[in-house]
Amino acid sequence: MPLMTFSERDELGQVTYVDTEHVVVQITVEDALQKIRVGNIVALETSKVHERLIAIVDKVTRKYVEEIEEEDEEDPYILPFDNIRVNIIGTYYAALGEKKNVFKRGVDAFPRIDSKCFLISGVNLQQFMSILCKDIVPEKRLKIGAFAIDKSADAALDGNKFFQRHAAILGSTGAGKSWCVATILERASALKYTNIVVFDMHGEYTKLAKGADPIAEYFKIAGPGDIDSPEHNILFLPYWLLNREELLSMMLERGDQNAPNQASRFTLHVRNLKGQTLKKENREDVYNTFTVDSPIPFEMKELLRLLKKDDTDKNIGNGGKIVKGDWEGKLTRFILRLESKKEDKKYGFMFQPPDEALKYDWLSNMLCKLLGYSDGQKGIKIIDFSEVPSDVMPVVTGTLARLLYNVQFWMSQEKRTPFTLICDEAHLYLPVKEDADAVQKQALFNFERIAKEGRKYGVSILAVSQRPSDVSKTILSQCNNFIVLRLTNEGDKSVIKNLLPDSLRSTVELLPLLDVGEAIVVGDAILLPSKVLLDKPSENHQPVSATKAFWDEWDKKSPDNAAVFAAVEAMRSQHRG
Ligand SMILES: Nc1ncnc2c1ncn2[C@@H]1O[C@H](COP(=O)(O)OP(=O)(O)OP(=O)(O)O)[C@@H](O)[C@H]1O
Ligand SMILES: [Mg+2]
Repeated sequence: MPLMTFSERDELGQVTYVDTEHVVVQITVEDALQKIRVGNIVALETSKVHERLIAIVDKVTRKYVEEIEEEDEEDPYILPFDNIRVNIIGTYYAALGEKKNVFKRGVDAFPRIDSKCFLISGVNLQQFMSILCKDIVPEKRLKIGAFAIDKSADAALDGNKFFQRHAAILGSTGAGKSWCVATILERASALKYTNIVVFDMHGEYTKLAKGADPIAEYFKIAGPGDIDSPEHNILFLPYWLLNREELLSMMLERGDQNAPNQASRFTLHVRNLKGQTLKKENREDVYNTFTVDSPIPFEMKELLRLLKKDDTDKNIGNGGKIVKGDWEGKLTRFILRLESKKEDKKYGFMFQPPDEALKYDWLSNMLCKLLGYSDGQKGIKIIDFSEVPSDVMPVVTGTLARLLYNVQFWMSQEKRTPFTLICDEAHLYLPVKEDADAVQKQALFNFERIAKEGRKYGVSILAVSQRPSDVSKTILSQCNNFIVLRLTNEGDKSVIKNLLPDSLRSTVELLPLLDVGEAIVVGDAILLPSKVLLDKPSENHQPVSATKAFWDEWDKKSPDNAAVFAAVEAMRSQHRG
């Protein structure tokens, strides 16, 4: 028994134009135009009785040709009467093989001219929405909100498809991206072995791990106040984790005429020191094949000693005469830069790690905390970057992403469990390539590699940003699903437009009109690419990012001088206390 049946009452008109992007329907039924809104869903007849093409209304136009010509210059067709333009999104089958009442994305055949078009409303709309939801088990659903056209219908994503191929959440500041992330995390936490790492730039998601109903583990990249006596959840990223290029991107001034000498001596010593560690640890097998980029601990003190020796050593010339050394004086500036980084508390998480972080097994233990599993450990890990200086942010995020990815890359295939990196405020460390400096390019390389190859190894990225036009195009163009919230900037809108399939491009015009918490959701993870009213995360999990009520607070809340004093001290100590 077909769940959707159409009568004369639902009829709107007939198809008069078809191309690969749009279908135009001429309204032939009197007063039908008044019933139709942009965003409504219609059904189009096909040659088979039990199949209907499902389409979304994209444009509604009234008769007069003169009016249409001006605003529609680009459109190849002329609309001579009352018309609607619709985009086909899929096919409804009353019966498909064994199954009854199935909706599938995509079309096998386009409608023919003169096919009838029906509005899906009332009972038919409810039935259609129930068909959309029926295949996913309620507890396992990645429900993110409700459809705007029928608020009683859950807008649920296919969790596999959403996480499989990279996704992006985009929208202006305050549009509701972080809240949407929290909702997704909340749903994901219902699964037994969720594996998600969240890069939290502002410490917004702390409540998810430390609030009344924790669903995540909390880690923080060591700030200046954590160096001396770090707690167990403080993360260090010791310098020896960085590969050659990453370290050099921070230390080397490419314009320096001695740069090639500095780089080559640095490389030689680092490789030797790593080799010595392997010998000491009796890792003959690793010793035979390791490279300068392998993450193997070595002492920074020792590296500096060797570089200083190079910088001051003399040579013995003809007849035993003491002459200028091969590298004498050539490394001075490099050593200075390295030493100033080493002393700077800002870089403490990298250059002043605790002794324990120089042990051979430290890395495996750290990565187990982030990607492994032990009893009672939560699968969602929030990493708080809020005290990381902005100039090294890209190195830190890039190095961490590379490490996580490499673990997955080198793990035997049958043992891998997939994981997702949620990159909030992605424009800060995944910038457009042309704008990136040496340090950012290095980070970008790591993330772009994940974007391009991650799928094969079960690693995906969920990029979140308020400035889509500032985010790496390589990463965005690899995304298969988009949750786009309110967006007003023209440049950002045009980026989104280019990311969407042709048939959905006109939805971009809706973006500035969306309210907080409303989004256009498109991609293979959602059956109906349309406007969704996003759920709020439960109070215990709401990101601390509240939009302040300026006017009300100015009327009620007095500024606090003691708090100003405390803030100045925090600014001086670079630590919130
Ligand atoms: N689904 C929602 N329903 C109702 N209100 C919401 C919803 N999502 C967000 N809000 C409101 O909007 C505010 C800002 O949301 P959020 O912090 O998610 O914005 P954002 O897009 O992450 O901004 P930014 O780019 O500045 O980080 C929240 O504090 C909340 O009050
Ligand atoms: Mg946010």
